[in-house]
Amino acid sequence: MEVVALSSDLEVATVAADVIESIVRRHPEAVVGLATGSTPGPTYRELIRRHQSDQGPDYDRVQVFILDEYVGLAPNHPKSYRQTIARELTDDLGLAPDRVHGPDMSDVREAGSRYESKITGVGGIDIQLLGIGTDGHLAFNEPGSSLASLTRLKTLTPETRRDNARFFACSEDVPRHAITQGLGTIQRARQLLLIATGAAKAGAIAAAVEGPLTSSCPASVIQLHPHATVLVDFDAASGLRRLEYYRHVYETKPDWKSI
Ligand code: F6R
Repeated sequence: MEVVALSSDLEVATVAADVIESIVRRHPEAVVGLATGSTPGPTYRELIRRHQSDQGPDYDRVQVFILDEYVGLAPNHPKSYRQTIARELTDDLGLAPDRVHGPDMSDVREAGSRYESKITGVGGIDIQLLGIGTDGHLAFNEPGSSLASLTRLKTLTPETRRDNARFFACSEDVPRHAITQGLGTIQRARQLLLIATGAAKAGAIAAAVEGPLTSSCPASVIQLHPHATVLVDFDAASGLRRLEYYRHVYETKPDWKSI
């Protein structure tokens, strides 16, 4: 695992956009897994800025899989993650709606296994962009989630519902359940890129990166992945004991070694 501490959320966005773009340039038919929430916003805006100023690659042949989706919101609900990712990124990158996939919520009981088949059917995810919850959740795998879990229904913790209340008119409107890629599903992606910004994420990042591998901190599962990168701003990095070493590694990295 590589940990890169950067000076601001905009620098995190720049490096994250570089990584995603380099994969799409190498594989124009790349399968890209995307997170929603506040953290990826600057990265998405940077990808759009480059695309619209003709500096970015062509995304026409890319396929996108979202990490998770709330249960109980209509498919066209503006707060559904499917609508959110279209509004915040994929529409502006020119991706056709049928290349942007989310769990099929018409039958919640089957949604998990169907989503797994869909991901497998396109050959798996090339790069998965991830955020992290203040409770250490990854996608909506809350503490206690099996490290081998596949896409399924999860119940959101009160902490996650509180954190996400800012996206809804009132806290009662935050759904109680979600269909989420499992920790085992995320592990199958060929590359993981976890981004975190702000002091509120410092504890979760320290636990995920330097704590024990445990379902009590679901994001710690990234320690098992052969190609995982964590991009953090200095605030989110502030709980890391080995921060000096990570900075040294990044500063002395050979030119040929990309993220
Ligand atoms: C969203 C997701 C969540 C968020 C996490 C952090 O698709 O899977 O795990 O990444 O809750 O959210 P923000 O970025 O809003 O702090």
